Amino acid sequence: MARPIRAALFAAATAAILGGAIAAQAQAQAQAPAQAPAQAPARAPVPPGFTPQPERINLPANWRERLVYYMKQDREDTKQVRYQYANPEALRAMRRGRPAPDGTFLVMEVHPAVVDAAGNVVRSPDNRLVAQPAIGGLFVMEKRRGWGAAYPEAIRNGDWEYAVFSPDGTRRQVNTTACFQCHLGRAAQDYSFSLWPHVNGTGQARGRGNR
Ligand code: HEC
Repeated sequence: MARPIRAALFAAATAAILGGAIAAQAQAQAQAPAQAPAQAPARAPVPPGFTPQPERINLPANWRERLVYYMKQDREDTKQVRYQYANPEALRAMRRGRPAPDGTFLVMEVHPAVVDAAGNVVRSPDNRLVAQPAIGGLFVMEKRRGWGAAYPEAIRNGDWEYAVFSPDGTRRQVNTTACFQCHLGRAAQDYSFSLWPHVNGTGQARGRGNR
C-alpha cells in the first residue's frame, strides 16, 4: 500500500513543478494500481517551524561541465525520463561507501516521456522510455557544511538542501518540504535514491535505471 501513497506524493511534487498536461498525466498515473513492489519510505511528519530554504542553492550556468552523467531512469509511473548528474567527488566518495563531501551538487534532469495517442508511454526497440527533447525541470540537491543545523532533527536531511529550476536556470517557486520528507527515507545512503546504489551496488534504488 505504501507505493500508491508515495506515487501520489511525488505526483503532487511534480504537479507543482511541471504544470499542465504532464502533471495531470502523472497524477492520473499515480492513481493507477501499483505495478511494482513497495519500497517507499513512510512519509515523515513535518515538524512545526520547519521552513526549507531552497534559495540557498544557485544553479551554476556551467553545471553540465562540472558534473558527471551517471544514469538514466525510466519512470513509467510518472511518465518521465530522468537523467542523473553528480560532481566527481561525490561519485568517488560514495563508491567507497562514504557520504558525499561538502559542496556536493546533484542534478536530476526530468523530461516528460513520449506518449502515444492513448497516453501510454512509447518504448524504444531496447524497451526504454523515450524522452521528449524539452526538459521539464531540473531538480537539485546541494550539500554544504552547517546547512542542516537550521532544521529540526525530525526532518533534517544531513546538510542537504533542495531546489528546483527551469531549464534556463530560473528558480521555480516550489515548496521543497516534500523533498525532505521523501529523501529522509534514504538517510542510510546519504539521502540519495539513485547515486549510492548505482555506484556501489548496494542499498535501495527505484525506477528502472541503467546507463
Ligand atoms: C515521493 C518521493 C520523492 C520526493 C517527494 C522527491 N524525490 Fe527526489 N528522488 C526520488 C526518487 C525515487 C529518486 C530516484 C530517481 C527515480 O527513481 O525516479 C529521486 C532522485 C532525486 C535526485 C537525484 C539524486 C538521487 O537522490 O538519486 C535529486 C537531485 C532529487 N531527487 C531532488 C528532489 C527535489 C529537489 C525534490 C523536491 C522538489 C524531490 N527530489 C522530491 C524521490 C522523491
